[in-house]
Amino acid sequence: MSGIAVRPRSSDTQKAGFGLFVRRWAANPLQMGSVVPSSRALGRRIAALVERSGDEVVVELGAGTGAVSRALLDGGVPPDRLVVVEIVPDMARHLARTLPGVTVIEGDAFALSDALPAALHGRIGTAICGIPLVLLPTEQQQRFVAAVEAVAPGRGFLLYSYCVTSPLPWRTLGLTARREAWTPLNFPPASVWRYRPTG
Ligand SMILES: C[S@@+](CC[C@H](N)C(=O)[O-])C[C@H]1O[C@@H](n2cnc3c(N)ncnc32)[C@H](O)[C@@H]1O
Repeated sequence: MSGIAVRPRSSDTQKAGFGLFVRRWAANPLQMGSVVPSSRALGRRIAALVERSGDEVVVELGAGTGAVSRALLDGGVPPDRLVVVEIVPDMARHLARTLPGVTVIEGDAFALSDALPAALHGRIGTAICGIPLVLLPTEQQQRFVAAVEAVAPGRGFLLYSYCVTSPLPWRTLGLTARREAWTPLNFPPASVWRYRPTG
């Protein structure tokens, strides 16, 4: 048996990812939050905002088809320092197949301390959220904030969103909020928000 790893062509990966995304959107629109995968332009904006030092990792929550993950790799995050968490098994398998060297976890971002290996707790430089938190009630948003805080104390997270104003009620959630980037080159146009705990 040959030891050569065959990496899927990027156009094949995009086509497969697009089809999968649309199927998942039809099955559960609230879980997906968007009709189409994120654009390269949005991925580049997010990659430029990553903070990471030493042996810290970047954790992407709700990685979907991996469009943002690929931008993070292109932006300089080494594959062995990128961890992606995805709740839908089909999508997690797609991510594992198309992102060689990246740690892919099929799991629930709201139970992050169980999903992430203990060795990564406290070693997260940046957490990025693709989950459509704006569609969830405040109690669930609070659960998400607490889940990130449990594994990345004080770091907060980046959240991309199609809202014009903050997608989270940041004061109620005990966060500071800053819109760090915006791109009209995404469908729909998207902003990247950075939230940090106030405490
Ligand atoms: C807006 S889509 C991500 C888009 C992604 N950037 C792309 O281009 O494919 C949101 C993703 O979050 C995932 N998701 C939703 N709830 C989740 C949860 N509790 N834990 C992990 N992933 C979740 C969905 O399955 C979906 O893949």
